[in-house]
Amino acid sequence: MFISTGYELRPITKENVRYCMEVYDSNQDFFILTEGKPATLQSCMANINAMPPGFSKWNKFYVSFWEDNNCVAVMDFLKGYPDRECLYLGLLLVHKHWQGKGVGKRIVNAVLGVAGREGMTRARIAVCDKNTVGIKFWSGLGFAETGRSTATVGDITMNVIVMEVLCIH
Ligand SMILES: CC(C)(COP(=O)(O)OP(=O)(O)OC[C@H]1O[C@@H](n2cnc3c(N)ncnc32)[C@H](O)[C@@H]1OP(=O)(O)O)[C@@H](O)C(=O)NCCC(=O)NCCS
Repeated sequence: MFISTGYELRPITKENVRYCMEVYDSNQDFFILTEGKPATLQSCMANINAMPPGFSKWNKFYVSFWEDNNCVAVMDFLKGYPDRECLYLGLLLVHKHWQGKGVGKRIVNAVLGVAGREGMTRARIAVCDKNTVGIKFWSGLGFAETGRSTATVGDITMNVIVMEVLCIH
């Protein structure tokens, strides 16, 4: 998948995950707020293979965005979940140093464009209901609430707001 953001795109693998850890470390407040504990290298690595039961690993993307050899953001998404026409965004983390500079908006709009060209009609995110910054961010990009649910990460279950937007065609 080619995502034109202006950043170099690298898949996150067991070999390079430690280099992306800085993005996680700079956002430990987010993990403590939503999951009740900080992210670790092990939790980042666990994300490489985390996907719904029976889901094809070829449609799971866990990628990092780089500028001048600095990892500025990481993103995780599933193509075709929960149905063929939906792009499911699992996580978007922008390095604290690069937040508020349009990085997140640029990445999401590029991903919505690719998803639209690849035949998906909408994108979904489940945002922890305590994450007011995240809710504001997704709302600003046109995502609107479609329901409420719970999500389990490891041994933590959180209340989430399910939000969707139409892909860009
Ligand atoms: C939420 C997050 C992805 C936003 O990325 P970002 O690169 O900082 O956001 P942008 O600079 O592209 O901002 C886009 C819009 O979001 C809003 N926004 C971003 N950060 C904000 C903040 N801290 N407070 C209020 N609004 C904010 C801005 O209003 C901006 O709107 P504008 O374009 O009209 O100015 C980033 O802050 C982050 O990684 N947070 C921690 C993890 C998280 O909450 N991820 C999302 C849930 S999975």
